[in-house]
Amino acid sequence: RIRRRELRSPHNLDSFGPCFFSIFKSLVPSEDEIVKQEQLLLSLRKLVKKEWPDAELHLYGSCANSFGVSNSDIDVCLAINDYEISKLDILLKLADILESSNLQNVQALTHARVPIVKMMDPVTGISCDICVNNLLALVNTKLLKDYAQIDQRLRQLAFIVKHWAKSRRVNETYQGTLSSYAYVLMCIHFLQTRKPAILPCLQGMEATCRVIANETECAYFDKVEKLKNFGARNKESITQLLWAFFHYWAYWHDYTNDVISVRTGRIISKQEKDWTRRIGNDRHLICIEDPFQVSHDLGRVVDKFSIKILREEFERAADILQYNSNPTVTLFEPY
Ligand code: GTP
Ligand code: MG
Repeated sequence: RIRRRELRSPHNLDSFGPCFFSIFKSLVPSEDEIVKQEQLLLSLRKLVKKEWPDAELHLYGSCANSFGVSNSDIDVCLAINDYEISKLDILLKLADILESSNLQNVQALTHARVPIVKMMDPVTGISCDICVNNLLALVNTKLLKDYAQIDQRLRQLAFIVKHWAKSRRVNETYQGTLSSYAYVLMCIHFLQTRKPAILPCLQGMEATCRVIANETECAYFDKVEKLKNFGARNKESITQLLWAFFHYWAYWHDYTNDVISVRTGRIISKQEKDWTRRIGNDRHLICIEDPFQVSHDLGRVVDKFSIKILREEFERAADILQYNSNPTVTLFEPY
């Protein structure tokens, strides 16, 4: 592969800034939608309290990490301390409860990697996945939300990248491409490694929040209101960052040796993680370390076919931002 380190972003790219910004704006969920999500959560809480008075329902994923685009499904976690009954029985019981209320398409997916109950609320039209005791997901949701508050360019970049990934159909884990969560981590890491940095490494700072979630210690600096000016010395615009993000993944990332790590705020080596070869179904063809579950590679879903598709899409995006006369349209053309 040719490496095009010598290329710079074209001067006229910044003239598309307002247009990329309005794409970002159009993706942000409306006030009305957020009210509906809260309504649904409240009515679910009532249902759950009847059966399990001590249980709690928490939002996680994109409806709570501030990277949610409009019309997304919501992700809910049931936190429950009932040792008498197994997780799967809780899920089945929950499915029963939902089914006998007025919720539609209730389905318990008990064999998924993260078992969930799926359903649709006919009142708000919102679809919802509920998992049980996935406390790590609550903590990584908070981590993403905290990063988003430090510099507004993170949200803008991640919304546009997610929109691109959905339009180009490279946001489908069951087809071997990456999850939204993985894309947001790629954006955070990218901004941590700009010169000067736009984002700090919160897990590398003195911990102000510490929890144990699913046997994993999670600790980081969460007083992000103190970091509002962190990225101010870096003046890069959203279009320049978008250009550099896609060029990085198209031409500069070392897929053979490197792992991106938000936990350390730098690149670490596959060697040091022992991610150099295929183990079971984990191929490690693109390596994205989970910030808390450090043995977890979010790129594990990518196989030898989908890595090719993914890299071609990164190259396509990079080339559009370099040469295309209408990048704000072409970039998102449906696959
Ligand atoms: P969209 O629904 O696409 O807008 O984004 P999302 O952030 O909700 O992503 P997704 O539905 O894929 O995942 C929901 C949440 O599950 C993530 O935000 C994480 O908090 C959590 N999660 C933890 N580990 C994983 C993982 O390995 N894969 C995925 N997909 N999610 C994980
Ligand atoms: Mg989601």
